[in-house]
Amino acid sequence: MPRQVHRGSILHFPKTTSSPADNYQYFSDGVLVTENGKITHLGEAQDFFKLPANQQLLNYGGVELHKGLLIPGMIDSHVHFPQVEMIASFGKQLLDWLNEYTFPTEMQFENQAYANAQAEFFLGQLMEHGTTTASVFATVHPQSVDAFFSAAEAINARMICGKVMMDRFCPEALQDSPEQGYRDSKALIEKWHNNGRASYAITPRFAPTSTPQQLAMAGKLANEHPDTFIQTHLSENLGEVEWIKELYPEHPDYLGVYEANDLVRDRALFGHAIHLNDREYRALSTSGASISFCPSSNLFLGSGLFNYDRAKTEGIDVSIASDVGAGTSLSLFANQADAYKICQLQNSSLDPFESLYLCTQGAAKAMGLDHLVGNLNPGSEADFVELNFMASPMLQQRLLRCKSLREQLFAITTLSDDRIIERTYLCGNLVYKKGSKVCGLNSTNGLRYLSNGSM
Ligand code: GUN
Ligand code: ZN
Repeated sequence: MPRQVHRGSILHFPKTTSSPADNYQYFSDGVLVTENGKITHLGEAQDFFKLPANQQLLNYGGVELHKGLLIPGMIDSHVHFPQVEMIASFGKQLLDWLNEYTFPTEMQFENQAYANAQAEFFLGQLMEHGTTTASVFATVHPQSVDAFFSAAEAINARMICGKVMMDRFCPEALQDSPEQGYRDSKALIEKWHNNGRASYAITPRFAPTSTPQQLAMAGKLANEHPDTFIQTHLSENLGEVEWIKELYPEHPDYLGVYEANDLVRDRALFGHAIHLNDREYRALSTSGASISFCPSSNLFLGSGLFNYDRAKTEGIDVSIASDVGAGTSLSLFANQADAYKICQLQNSSLDPFESLYLCTQGAAKAMGLDHLVGNLNPGSEADFVELNFMASPMLQQRLLRCKSLREQLFAITTLSDDRIIERTYLCGNLVYKKGSKVCGLNSTNGLRYLSNGSM
């Protein structure tokens, strides 16, 4: 990929921090240079073009001018690709929602062609929502993971995915066994993990749907492949937590079940973690594992209010995630808006710099990927998006009346969704421009690949 110069306003968090509001970098007229898929320069346009101070900035040939704001591609640390078609399913809380809507939907992914089409649709949607990396649950079928990683490879997206392991309390057609789950996951690790931009996540769905034997096999895999991710669910719903006590009476609590099976470590991503006890907070904080805070999902399923301040005080890494199909939007802006409201209900106001951090650099840190993505530092992979605030007249009007960047960012994180995503770049390649269909996906959705970075 040849050198490209992008000029516009730019916002990101160059380092990992517990205080994002004091550690952002903003250029009202900045330059981002990419070459061979990486960022090679970030700075003031004035310095880059060596313009005398106060001289009107000129438009240089070969420079991509962006009217909107450039930010790093966002990172969704917990999402289910097969569930995108059942988003907004009415009236149930977690366990009934799984039985009534989720399991029947996931059964369709036994069919490779179906899985391929849905993987392509989902990835196209991620690009349209400005999400360039995600940690993704597939289904129990290994072919659903092949479908997902093949589609991600076609657009060269940095993605994490895993085959769900689940051997009880679900329809038989969705069950593997401890041995089969182990064998299938291992073969997928060998095929996909660290293959290009793909990373594998060992994915026991959650402790109730795995026998103790299966969780032990998941832990064996995790020990055999220490640089893989682990993703699962933890303490999302009170009924679920009660069920864990019945199923695993020998363990002190929900997290204890995962700890006993070596599933709580660096690169382990726990979705939800709403109803934790003091011991679980402490154990998580020393483990290197992180929590995926899934605000729109928690509100939609009536699961409870995640205590962000407590998790932060305990020193646990947190990122914001969509958890679609229980989440109601793939937009990490919409999820930031819900995160703010969840914190408000607990007498705390989530700073907009902080919520954006939790979808970019903070998420990358939680996942051990901050040397690659989540920021616009030279050396990082050139995944970034352009936001166009004019796409929402109400937001545009609100922004005109703001007096500070912080106020503007709060309006943006509260009022935005996929409308404001103007362009999405992966490794410097333009893969989505608003109004066009996305990407390198030969799908029935009419998606098409934009390889030359210009439209
Ligand atoms: N717990 C176990 N499976 C799921 C799932 O698919 N979605 C959510 N939100 N929670 C779960
Ligand atoms: Zn989930």
